[in-house]
Amino acid sequence: MRFLAHFLWSSIFIGSVQATIITDDLSKVVNLSFEFIVVGGGTTGLAAANRLALNHSVLVVERGQNLVDNEVVNDPFAFAAGTPSPCRFSMNSTPQNSVDGTYRSLPLFYGSCLGGSSSINGMMGARPTFASMNAIEALGNPGWGWNDFLPYMQRSENFTPPNPSQIEEGANYIAAVHGYHGPVGVSFARPFVAPVLQRIAKKTTQTVFGGEVTLTPDMGDGFSGGHVSSFYYQIHFNETLHSDRRSSSAWSYLYPQAQQRTGLTVLTAHQVNSVLTSASASGNIIATGVLVEPTIGGPVIMINASREVVITAGALQSPVILQRSGIGNATFLRTIRIESVLDLPGVGANLQDHIGLYNTSFPLAPYANTTNVTGGANVLAGIVVAQPTAQDTLGLKDATALNILLRNLSTEHAVSVGGVVNSESLATQAAVIAEAYEIDRMQSFQAPLWSINQQHIVDPFIEIFYSPGSVYLQVAAHTILPLSRGTIRINTTDPSADPTVDMQFLTSEVDIHAAVAAARRISLIAATPPFSELIAENALKESGVPDVNATEEEVRKWVLETYESDIHFEGSHSMLPKELGGVVSPQLLVYGTKNLRIADASILPLSVFPHPTLGLYGVAEKAADMILQTIDTC
Ligand SMILES: Cc1cc2nc3c(=O)[nH]c(=O)nc-3n(C[C@H](O)[C@H](O)[C@H](O)COP(=O)(O)OP(=O)(O)OC[C@H]3O[C@@H](n4cnc5c(N)ncnc54)[C@H](O)[C@@H]3O)c2cc1C
Ligand SMILES: *[C@@H]1O[C@H](CO)[C@@H](O)[C@H](O)[C@H]1NC(C)=O
Ligand SMILES: *[C@@H]1O[C@H](CO)[C@@H](O)[C@H](O)[C@H]1NC(C)=O
Ligand SMILES: *[C@@H]1O[C@H](CO)[C@@H](O)[C@H](O)[C@H]1NC(C)=O
Ligand SMILES: *[C@@H]1O[C@H](CO)[C@@H](O)[C@H](O)[C@H]1NC(C)=O
Ligand SMILES: *[C@@H]1O[C@H](CO)[C@@H](O)[C@H](O)[C@H]1NC(C)=O
Ligand SMILES: *[C@@H]1O[C@H](CO)[C@@H](O)[C@H](O)[C@H]1NC(C)=O
Ligand SMILES: *[C@@H]1O[C@H](CO)[C@@H](O)[C@H](O)[C@H]1NC(C)=O
Ligand SMILES: *[C@@H]1O[C@H](CO)[C@@H](O)[C@H](O)[C@H]1NC(C)=O
Ligand SMILES: *[C@@H]1O[C@H](CO)[C@@H](O)[C@H](O)[C@H]1NC(C)=O
Ligand SMILES: *[C@@H]1O[C@H](CO)[C@@H](O)[C@H](O)[C@H]1NC(C)=O
Ligand SMILES: *[C@@H]1O[C@H](CO)[C@@H](O)[C@H](O)[C@H]1NC(C)=O
Repeated sequence: MRFLAHFLWSSIFIGSVQATIITDDLSKVVNLSFEFIVVGGGTTGLAAANRLALNHSVLVVERGQNLVDNEVVNDPFAFAAGTPSPCRFSMNSTPQNSVDGTYRSLPLFYGSCLGGSSSINGMMGARPTFASMNAIEALGNPGWGWNDFLPYMQRSENFTPPNPSQIEEGANYIAAVHGYHGPVGVSFARPFVAPVLQRIAKKTTQTVFGGEVTLTPDMGDGFSGGHVSSFYYQIHFNETLHSDRRSSSAWSYLYPQAQQRTGLTVLTAHQVNSVLTSASASGNIIATGVLVEPTIGGPVIMINASREVVITAGALQSPVILQRSGIGNATFLRTIRIESVLDLPGVGANLQDHIGLYNTSFPLAPYANTTNVTGGANVLAGIVVAQPTAQDTLGLKDATALNILLRNLSTEHAVSVGGVVNSESLATQAAVIAEAYEIDRMQSFQAPLWSINQQHIVDPFIEIFYSPGSVYLQVAAHTILPLSRGTIRINTTDPSADPTVDMQFLTSEVDIHAAVAAARRISLIAATPPFSELIAENALKESGVPDVNATEEEVRKWVLETYESDIHFEGSHSMLPKELGGVVSPQLLVYGTKNLRIADASILPLSVFPHPTLGLYGVAEKAADMILQTIDTC
């Protein structure tokens, strides 16, 4: 049925007029001029371009292909099945911290096709929290607090409330926090995946956290810390076809009839080499266009932008484009013979990612092998999600220790590897995080109307999620607010070469504390009924996850041996004051430029989006809104 449904989806276009031009033929754009050029047709790029093109000419340049009819990309169930996707690529990190002073290189995955990483991701729908957005605002970014940001997330969203049978099976929502008229489909899976496992996962989580992690109807209300719930997904459900489809940014902002834009041209299979700039009388640099070349190699041509260039190539690639354009650490750029246009040492710094503990699959008990536990044919990753706070995770005593760690950070290491441009930057970020966690003091707080029984503002510290499978049940975990800071640097001007990405994973003791605590909770879940009754008797031993009685040292060793990149790259040119290594202003303008903006995951100064996508649509919507406002007022 899914195959039939996809056939119908693509046939919507046959015989109908398409206003948006999607082409891989450079000659179709070579002599045109555009008001805006958007660099990267991924998650944020297509969202921003859609809004700008309502009344302006916009060119999107995307390195990857248009995979509109690709079954693997469109099928929401292909991700958990592990089906290889033609949109999925990876590069290797430099060797990272591992056990006993050894190092290992980790694969860093990303999407490269229309829709970018939203065309290959797990579609898990999460949002930042009230406290974490206010932390971003507190870092010198007025207008980015939760109350200002929520409307932009809602603007992008087309939420389908759970139906009575899904509610019966454990889905729920808070109507006021969602958006219903945006393009991005957000819904619970139909059929609801593995309802028995969902119920058991929620019950066991509550037991393992001693009742401190409680059920919430909706993880998107801004107060997810300390809660557990069923996950919703970036999945579009079509009532007529009775079929699910991945709601990538391409299927949300580009392909549907209602999203066609006469002003929009999308050039695929071409990459932007660099941004063209010129000096201006005011001293600020002006972006005049981009240099474009076929992704497989070929002649470079210039395309002009009369208003702005907006960079949305993702947190791994955007800093590479800036560096090739002479925007970055001038001393460093000189070593690879790139002439400096703007000295901005924060380009490629403050890079963050969550670390994931995914080698946590427990063999299923034979009698538990039923669809309501395994998910049957329609499996999704992460059907139940818990976001414990620092106190839930560590216990109060350790939380106090964490607070001391946070407020007494040694920043010398991060500075010496270039992870941050000065020690004040990391110390300021850590102080803001400590405030957000509210570790040492509870603040009375006026809860919003929708909020259920919020006594205090606390942020999630780790996330745990349960995934079904026909042979294993997985209980994965990842950190949510890392303190380790890495770097991205090019070592050649060749655009086909990968940059040098040094994540500096687990170099902060705070991050190791979080990961070790997360691992201990995974062990405990596997040993606690009713979840323990779903898995084989020796499941914990077979999984390799440390025993519940393992020593601190043993757990630490396992963490360092098995951790992976959570592929949530953020922050590689952050929205921070320039003196703290910031690269963009709260208006997302690159400092020292008049019209060069960045609007993707790289602008987040703190990695506070537990799963980034729904928050990133908010970033793209806000970016487009700010750009259109400057045009209207000049
Ligand atoms: C495997 C995987 C699973 C994930 N699971 C989830 C999940 O379940 N839930 C969630 O919320 N998030 C998830 N994420 C993270 C999320 O998808 C990303 O954080 C988000 O999509 C990033 O959006 P972006 O716009 O910053 O970059 P992207 O969406 O990656 O877009 C960047 C685009 O720019 C293009 N590009 C790069 N360089 C150039 C160039 N020089 N010229 C032209 N184009 C260029 C790329 O081809 C790409 O299309 C996952 C990510 C991955 C990789
Ligand atoms: C672009 O313009 C130039 C100069 O007018 C012309 O020589 C060339 O043929 C044009 N290219 C295309 C593809 O139209
Ligand atoms: C783009 O700008 C350059 C430099 O100003 C100019 O020479 C060129 O003709 C412009 N191209 C188009 C297609 O307008
Ligand atoms: C579109 O642009 C034109 C000309 O700049 C302007 O008059 C009009 O109001 C704009 N429409 C919208 C919807 O912004
Ligand atoms: C569902 O699919 C039908 C048939 O292709 C289509 O006409 C309709 O617009 C779709 N509904 C939505 C909400 O996309
Ligand atoms: C800039 O790069 C140089 C050379 O790699 C390095 O020594 C210096 O510390 C960097 N400056 C900043 C502020 O990161
Ligand atoms: C569960 O059932 C599936 C499908 O029948 C089978 O492939 C799998 O091996 C079974 N798993 C266990 C643990 O028995
Ligand atoms: C789970 O599914 C099996 C097989 O379809 C069914 O017999 C059983 O009643 C279900 N259990 C619950 C608790 O729904
Ligand atoms: C803070 O760090 C310094 C240097 O590492 C150490 O001497 C001091 O005891 C620490 N303070 C606390 C409260 O942990
Ligand atoms: C540049 O970095 C890449 C990735 O780390 C590496 O494979 C390559 O050998 C480096 N090239 C040079 C010239 O240093
Ligand atoms: C995952 O755990 C299994 C079982 O302990 C082990 O054999 C395997 O090497 C681990 N894989 C990784 C990538 O750590
Ligand atoms: C773990 O420790 C508890 C309490 O000391 C003990 O009852 C239990 O048997 C131990 N479990 C294992 C697997 O060693």
